[in-house]
Amino acid sequence: MTSRLNTPVKLGHHMLNNRVVLPPLTRQRSAQPGDIATDLMAEYYRQRATAGFMVSEGTQIEPRGQGYAWTPGIYTPAQIDGWRKVTDAVHAEGGVIFAQLWHVGRVSHNALQPEGAAPVAPSALAAEQAKAFIETGPGVGELMQPPVPRALSALEIEELVAHYAQAARNALDAGFDGVEIHAANGYLVNQFISAHANQRDDEYGGSLHNRLRFLREIVEAVTAVVGPERLGVRFSPLFSGTDQDRVYIGLVEEDPHHTYIEAIKVLEASGIAYVSIAEADWDNAPDLPQTFRQAVRSTFSGRIIYAGRYTAARGAKLVEAGLADLIAFGRPFIANPDLPQRLFNGWPLNALRAEGMYGGSALGYTDYPMYAE
Ligand code: PHB
Repeated sequence: MTSRLNTPVKLGHHMLNNRVVLPPLTRQRSAQPGDIATDLMAEYYRQRATAGFMVSEGTQIEPRGQGYAWTPGIYTPAQIDGWRKVTDAVHAEGGVIFAQLWHVGRVSHNALQPEGAAPVAPSALAAEQAKAFIETGPGVGELMQPPVPRALSALEIEELVAHYAQAARNALDAGFDGVEIHAANGYLVNQFISAHANQRDDEYGGSLHNRLRFLREIVEAVTAVVGPERLGVRFSPLFSGTDQDRVYIGLVEEDPHHTYIEAIKVLEASGIAYVSIAEADWDNAPDLPQTFRQAVRSTFSGRIIYAGRYTAARGAKLVEAGLADLIAFGRPFIANPDLPQRLFNGWPLNALRAEGMYGGSALGYTDYPMYAE
């Protein structure tokens, strides 16, 4: 049954070898100063390149888009060169990798912002439960309460859309096979979509149609750069999670089904390659309703990816039922660089260790062993 995950599938221009996905995972190991992808990062991605499809960790599209120290950017020439090491390593192994374009919006802190300014957001409403992470010394840092952000002007929103398009161009220059727009987990695009975070009274706020305008404009602008076959979008309709000492709270709408089916219609209109759904991923989280999954399938004709505490069996079942095309495995892929082979062969999995999840060295990053029979 799990062999259902070990079958090829077409995504955009690519014929993928299997349906196991490395989802975007924040690991905070870019070189400082400059937030530049490193050789160690290239090694980490190379180790995992037997995934049918890989998405990079979120990479900030501009300085204001950063909410956590040491996450890599994709807006300077040095950052583009750094990412090229990653894409070369992945391609040498026959892998396919998209860059996740990230802007955290209000989930940041003055210490991470140019000139110590307030973070930017659709409205001046603080993210009360999410945390940013700032550096307090070399290699050490602290989770911080995000301050009240500054509401963006309509002109600034237009500039931000251009930043997404430029970042997509940079991603292609860096050798990525495509890009994923991070519209999940309470970050900037999600803030525009959410009635909780967006209380604008211009054309970007109010009605759902207006709250989806920012997404629509980004999808159009990025599609114009990379083409629809090289674009995916990630949503998290029910995401609201905490991870041990770390906190990342998403935004859940009063009617998530309607909100996100309307959002997926935006993607369908542009004919993009895939939609990726990050499910609630804490223990005992509610399952995404089957009616939602069915509506996603009947609304969207591209590929559908689900992530969130899947086992191979549960993922394969969803593919078998025709509701998913690909399944992403986060925590298991951190601990098992050869995860696809382990899943396909029923080999045991390495346990995830607490050390080195966020930031640090090779420890807890590239030192997880491959399976040895
Ligand atoms: C995190 O770094 O905690 C994080 C980043 C991006 C996400 C979710 C969580 O989408």
